[in-house]
Amino acid sequence: MMDCTDRHERYFLRLLSKKVMLYTEMVATKSAIHGDRNKILGFNKIEKPLGLQVGGSDKKELSTVCKIAEDLGYDEININLGCPSKKVQQNKFGACLIKEPDLVAECVNEMVKSCSIPVTAKTRIGFDDTENFQYLNNFVNKISAAGCKTIILHARKAILKGLTPKENLKIPKLNYPMVYEIKKNNPNLEIVINGGITNCLQIKEHLQKCDGVMIGRAIYQNPYFLAEIENEIFSNLNVPSRSEITEKLVEYVKEETQKGTRVNQIMRHTVGLYYGQNGANKWKRFLSDNMMARDSDFQKVDHIMEIAQNNEKANQPIS
Ligand SMILES: Cc1cc2nc3c(=O)[nH]c(=O)nc-3n(C[C@H](O)[C@H](O)[C@H](O)COP(=O)(O)O)c2cc1C
Repeated sequence: MMDCTDRHERYFLRLLSKKVMLYTEMVATKSAIHGDRNKILGFNKIEKPLGLQVGGSDKKELSTVCKIAEDLGYDEININLGCPSKKVQQNKFGACLIKEPDLVAECVNEMVKSCSIPVTAKTRIGFDDTENFQYLNNFVNKISAAGCKTIILHARKAILKGLTPKENLKIPKLNYPMVYEIKKNNPNLEIVINGGITNCLQIKEHLQKCDGVMIGRAIYQNPYFLAEIENEIFSNLNVPSRSEITEKLVEYVKEETQKGTRVNQIMRHTVGLYYGQNGANKWKRFLSDNMMARDSDFQKVDHIMEIAQNNEKANQPIS
């Protein structure tokens, strides 16, 4: 997710779950090839399994990025076929490519030939006035014939003109049955469902009909939801508490600030750590007063443990 799943967010999320697959923000092929590689594509090994999401429609560039991703140690490369933003459309990548199944198939084919890590795709179930099973099934079949065996389906269409990217995440209606139908008709493909999933019960229901679930906003807003998933879905009985996570994060902040990272670049991702808990406001206030400014003092990070421990006590069940 743009401006969300940078390497600091992914480090934080990996403290909450060992099992889930994590993805980068979308990186345009040109930036991946010509930009500051360490800044744009660098990651900490702890973040793995990690997929690089790429945006582009130039076969040569896509295949170059696949090689780079594989060399850097990414576990998967995912092509973005779902972003509806104007700028992305102008550059001919993202959701507008749903209109061009043959071009996408050629791109996927080149990508698959140029690396040995899995090439996957993330797309929407339609665009503008087109939201029908035949069209989507044909699109999915073309991509899979080209070698992409895992397809993440955001269960709403993209409106390519007239809606902002934000509106495109809520105005087009969710259509889960369409995704289920795709899975039913393509049992050999791995179909991952995405869009509007906010609790473990929903995850379990989707897993009856699809191979996987992808979650975006609900985890960014309430990161500890990931620990609940680790516990309920992956049966990990030893998930860390919020204060244990904070303790590990404090160590990380200390290491990273020595390398030039600013405190706020890391801590901005933790605003929702106490979402729905006693002490959530205290936590957010402490962050905004002490850790959200560009020049936040890393020594203040030690005080955050106090808030974390107090919050932990405030949320203990009364015996
Ligand atoms: C701030 C933000 C940034 C996003 N950036 C990306 C992105 O870079 N690549 C992508 O495939 N989807 C991106 N998305 C879409 C999400 O991955 C996801 O498909 C969408 O939010 C629906 O899932 P959710 O309801 O679980 O959030 C973004 C969404 C938001 C809110």
